[in-house]
This record gives sequence, structure tokens and C-alpha cells, in this order.
Amino acid sequence: MADAQVRPIRIALIGAGTVGSKVASLMLEQAEDLEARSGAPLVLVGVGVKDATKSRPGIPKELITADVPGLLAKDIDIVVEVMGGIEPARTHILDAMSRGISVVTANKELLARDGATLAAAAEKNNVDLYYEASVAGAIPILRPLRESLVGDRVKKILGIVNGTTNYILTKMDETGASFKDALSEAQKLGYAETDPSADVEGKDAAAKAAIVAQLAFHTRVTIDDVYCEGITKVSASDVKAAKEMGFVIKLLAIAERLDDESIVVRVHPAMIPRSHPLASVREAFNAVFVEAEAAGSLMFYGRGAGGAPTASAVLGDLVAVARNRMSGRRGPGESIYADLKVKPVSEAMTSYYISLQVADKPGVLAQISQKIADNNVSIQTVRQDGLENDAQLVIRTHKALEKDLAKTLEDLRNLDAVREISDYMRVEGED
Ligand code: NAP
Ligand code: HSE
Repeated sequence: MADAQVRPIRIALIGAGTVGSKVASLMLEQAEDLEARSGAPLVLVGVGVKDATKSRPGIPKELITADVPGLLAKDIDIVVEVMGGIEPARTHILDAMSRGISVVTANKELLARDGATLAAAAEKNNVDLYYEASVAGAIPILRPLRESLVGDRVKKILGIVNGTTNYILTKMDETGASFKDALSEAQKLGYAETDPSADVEGKDAAAKAAIVAQLAFHTRVTIDDVYCEGITKVSASDVKAAKEMGFVIKLLAIAERLDDESIVVRVHPAMIPRSHPLASVREAFNAVFVEAEAAGSLMFYGRGAGGAPTASAVLGDLVAVARNRMSGRRGPGESIYADLKVKPVSEAMTSYYISLQVADKPGVLAQISQKIADNNVSIQTVRQDGLENDAQLVIRTHKALEKDLAKTLEDLRNLDAVREISDYMRVEGED
């Protein structure tokens, strides 16, 4: 137990929603253990919210305030920001840092948009900025990248980092649930963002991809550098087609180093073989694969969303920052020095599944394969099923440049013999 004379570490919590309410209740329930592990009592001085009149079971009423600037003015050591959004969260964080207050945040949206400003303010004011909870909920992934793997060379990261979309895709795959019903279940379970379009349109995963890529490649990456396609266009028939071929559709966040030492960061739905370890990541679970030169492949797996799992990561950061304060130092800051070029998705190497309805007559297959070859794309497999006067072709390509695959689709659409491209999707996880 810590010395009773030790000055307590004073904490302000901003936000008491899904994550904040759990952070507050765990801080209060586990106060003795947190004190023993930090070396000083962690005292919750106040909880900033939007609506101070709401009932908040488990949080003493006298701690609740809607006056966040007033709370930050109260001799605070650490602010835990779990309100989300860009403003006023950024202003509160910068204000806190300018007063010498360290910050723990789960705010991936702000970090992915303006992490550089926050990091510079932390450096200037000699305070900590910790944000483990911003990516993949309970899973420790940022600290391993920032500390354990800092001596290695990361080649590729492949992750399922959004619980809501993984929950939706799992339900569509396993129970045939509609997109709408699965989303509303995910919202009830507290996985979705306040505005769930950030989840289903891939923006939440793109923010996390930027944060992870930045640490992995020591290069500034913002959400604007990330190619982003969500799951709103994934239909029940896509899910069924994937299933029939022994694949499952997942929303993947991919950050990779190319041969020329540039990087590409992208988020999109992709088919992966059912035998791939990421295929068994179900419901709101997340998983992140890291491929590093010396370490080889590493996999991090766990609960990626929800109040308690996210609060676990927040509390881990809180104790780490409290320990730093007790020893009068900052933890490791950014190491953004490499300045690798961030290339557009058109430079990524991937493979495609293409399903197209074509006229069933002599020479059509030859025309189609010629167009594909003209674009430097190589066919891996092709299957034809008869459809009265037409035929359904299912083509799987080998890996090729994304821009060549996009041009292939455009050229195929322009062939008279092609009635329609019924479906196409990227395929990952086969190498
Ligand atoms: P939430 O349930 O919507 O809670 C937001 C909280 O912030 C509420 O207590 C709200 O007050 C308060 N708030 C909003 N605007 C405010 C303002 N202007 N001033 C003061 N307080 C304000 O959100 P959440 O799901 O807990 O997420 C919080 C953060 O954690 C976000 O950055 C999110 O991206 C991140 N995160 C969430 C999860 C998850 O699974 N939910 C996981 C990882 C990271 P009222 O209660 O009065 O409305
Ligand atoms: N809405 C996010 C998700 C919360 O579903 O993964 C965790 O960041």
C-alpha cells in the first residue's frame, strides 16, 4: 500500500457515457488496487458531461458538472478525455496540457485528425499524452508498437479494428440477419459510435489505421491519408457468394510498407479464406496482425469495443501516467522521424474476386481474358455457370496493382459481351 502521506493524484474525467461511466465506476471500485499500483491515491475530482441533470448510477452526484473549463481549473494532474469528437475535446485537451496536466484519451477521431497538434503540445508542456484505448478497445496494440517493437521494422499490419462492423458482418454471415437489424443490436450493446455512420462507412477504422500506421512506420499519417470504403454496400448476396467460395467478408484495416519504402494505408471490406485466423474473429472482437522483420508475425486479439473493455485500456494508461508523475518524468513520446511517402491506394497490391454476367457465345471468354491480360493482371481461377442465353463468370485474379485492377473493371464494363459486373471485392489473406 502507498504511503498515506503521499500527495494524491487528482483526476478529471470528461465524458460519462459508455466508456466514461465504466472508467468512473472502476476507478471508484478499485481505488485501493489502483493506489497500490500507481504509488499514490488516484482521486476523481470531477466528471465533466454535457447534461449534468441526467441520472448517472454509480457516480456520486457531487462529482458531476457541465462546467468542463471550471473542472480543469481545479489543480488537476491527469485528465481522462472520453467525450469524443473534435471540438470542444481538442480545446479542453490543449487547455489541460497548457496547465501542465497529462492527458489520457480514447478519442481516435481527434488523434487521427490532429494528433500532431496534441503531440506538440504534450512535448512543449512536458506532459504525457496516452491513447491506448483509441485503437481496438481492450487490446494492447499501441504500447507494443511504441515500445516493444520500436527496435524492429514493421512490414505490414492487417487488422479488424471496428467492433460494430465486425458484429454486423458476423450476424449477416452466421444468421442471415439484415444489415439494419444487426446494426441496431450493435448500438444496443454500446459498440457503435454516437453517429454509427463513422463505423459503417469505415471512418472509425480509418482513424485507427492512421494511428497504428503512424506508430508502426514512424511517419505522420492522418485520416486524410487513408483510403476508406465501408460496409454499407456489402449485400446479403455478397456474403452468400463469399460463403459458397469458402471465404468470409471482413472490414480490414491494412497498413503496409511497399518495396520502395513508401507506405499505403487502406480500409475496405475484403474476402478472406475461412481458414485464415482473422476469419474466426467474431462479433465485436478485434484482432491485429503485425508482421515485423525480426519478430515475424504477431497477433493481438480481444474485445475491441464496449464500456468495460475500453475502460480497461483507459485505466492502464491512467496508472502508467500516474507512475510517470510519481517518478517526475514523461513516458515515451512520439518518434516520428522517418517521413515515408504515403501513397494512394492505387499503388497497393491486392487481388480481386469478380463476378460478371456475359453473353454465352464463342470468343467471349477469350475477349475477357485478353482485357485482363492487357492490364497486367493475371487470372488465378475462372468458373462459368450457364444462365439461359448468358453465362455467369466468376474470376479470381492473382495479386496486381490496384490501379490495374480498377482499369480492368472499367474495360470489362465497356465490352459489348459483358451484360454487367454483378459483384467484385478485394481478396486478402492468401499469402
Ligand atoms: P458516449 O457514450 O456518446 O459518451 C460521451 C460522453 O461525453 C457523454 O457522457 C456526454 O455527456 C459527454 N459529452 C459529450 N459532449 C460533451 C461536451 N460538449 N461537454 C462535456 N461532455 C460532453 O461516447 P462513448 O462511446 O463513451 O465514447 C467516448 C470516446 O471513446 C469517443 O472518443 C469514442 O470514439 C471512444 N471509444 C469508444 C469506444 C466504445 O466502445 N464506445 C471504444 C473505444 C473508444 P452526456 O452524458 O451528458 O450526454
Ligand atoms: N465504435 C467502435 C467500434 C468503438 O465499433 O469498434 C471502439 O472503438
